[in-house]
Amino acid sequence: MCATSRKSSSLLDTRTIFCGDNLDQLKKLPDACIDLIYIDPPFNSNRTYEVFWGESKEKRSFEDRHESTRSYIEFMRPRCVELARVLQETGSFYLHCDWHASHYVKIMLDQIFGEKQFQNEVIWYYGPKATQNETHFQRKHDVIFFYSKSKNFQFNTLLQEYSEGSLEERDTRYKHEDEEGRYRLTTRRDAEGNKYRAKVYLRSGVAMTDVWDIGVINSTSKERLGYPTQKPLALLERIIKASSNPNDIVLDAFCGCGTALVAAQNLGRLWIGIDISPTACRVMAKRLRDVSKLPEDEKLWRAGRGFVVRDLPWSEKQLRKIPPFEFENWAVIALGGIPNKAQVGDMGIDGRIYPVSSMPTRSGKTAGELDFMDVWYPIQVKQKDKVGRPDIDSFEAAILREKRTKGFFVSFEFSSDALREIDAFFRREHCIIVPLTVQEILEESLAMKLA
Ligand SMILES: C[S@@+](CC[C@H](N)C(=O)[O-])C[C@H]1O[C@@H](n2cnc3c(N)ncnc32)[C@H](O)[C@@H]1O
Repeated sequence: MCATSRKSSSLLDTRTIFCGDNLDQLKKLPDACIDLIYIDPPFNSNRTYEVFWGESKEKRSFEDRHESTRSYIEFMRPRCVELARVLQETGSFYLHCDWHASHYVKIMLDQIFGEKQFQNEVIWYYGPKATQNETHFQRKHDVIFFYSKSKNFQFNTLLQEYSEGSLEERDTRYKHEDEEGRYRLTTRRDAEGNKYRAKVYLRSGVAMTDVWDIGVINSTSKERLGYPTQKPLALLERIIKASSNPNDIVLDAFCGCGTALVAAQNLGRLWIGIDISPTACRVMAKRLRDVSKLPEDEKLWRAGRGFVVRDLPWSEKQLRKIPPFEFENWAVIALGGIPNKAQVGDMGIDGRIYPVSSMPTRSGKTAGELDFMDVWYPIQVKQKDKVGRPDIDSFEAAILREKRTKGFFVSFEFSSDALREIDAFFRREHCIIVPLTVQEILEESLAMKLA
């Protein structure tokens, strides 16, 4: 099904990541401006997620906020209503969820989009795990609901390989052949209602089904960022190819580490991303720069290239309110460093800065590990009003333990005791601690201090 779709990108800021609650951000968008929406909201799973970069050493975890299905649906409903509003008449909507809430989500979406606009329940199957002693069958699929805004929606048929069964059927049905390939004959009617015989040529595959067998991102996968809920690019590419065309606008309003945005960019679509987490926004910005080679640059963005991130917390007041791990990540990333993998039990180090001059010495380290460089400086972050002498003492211990010559300490303010101790440490050990206040980072007077 296809319709002529008008482009509204001149009225919209595309190639833009908005940081904030999607309910607020969506209200800023005009009606019927988006061609394709994909969302992958946090599930009603009560599962604890590792926070960014947490792997086996997960320490600081958080529970999904939605303790019950009811509150999950209450959270999702106004957001889906807004999403339906911003979707074009020819647009499509995909919601990714799993067995925890899928049946309730389906009812909610039927109410919002209308039962008749339901197109598919796509099953994303990601294969079994080597496990035993289960009390039930392994749960190895997610559910993706696909709705259209109206009857007249954009859909591009994708093909998949013939299965064993369909090969046999193909051979019996497509028994003729000419210079254009194999075909079968079918009866059609012309404008006057007269019957005629038409050739239907064999395609290179069959129309894709609603069960998609795509592997999850495993620990050795090249696209893996370490973000716990990252979805495979192949999954998003399939959705984007089926339900949009080049230059269409794709929106992901829960975009995590930006898989949908990267897929959209790589397929020549325009895109808008929204995420409430400043860390997620910075992670996906880096991914777009590294993977899609898209510059993050206001000037280029105005000229129709590059991309921008909007509405990141910018005031001391906002930064005091964000969760501690978000604050740590914000500070480390603002300094151009890399957040620590172990979030608690980090032995006094929240991140590392690798000076541009440091030489990589890869030997003996796993490819992909970022700690292959031997020259690095530790970063310590404290979301507190006034850092005191004991905080400096423990950072000194970490610096000496790691045999570093310099480190950075970020906080809102430093007591005069703390600053005196920093001087004393330099005289005693010839090690430098650079105290950085949030205000200094925000004022971008950093470059001088970091030089
Ligand atoms: C399951 S993850 C999405 C993962 C994403 N599909 C990917 O492949 O990286 C859900 C994301 O929704 C974000 N989120 C949660 N509540 C939100 C809200 N109210 N507004 C915007 N984003 C929100 C979280 O910060 C998280 O990054």
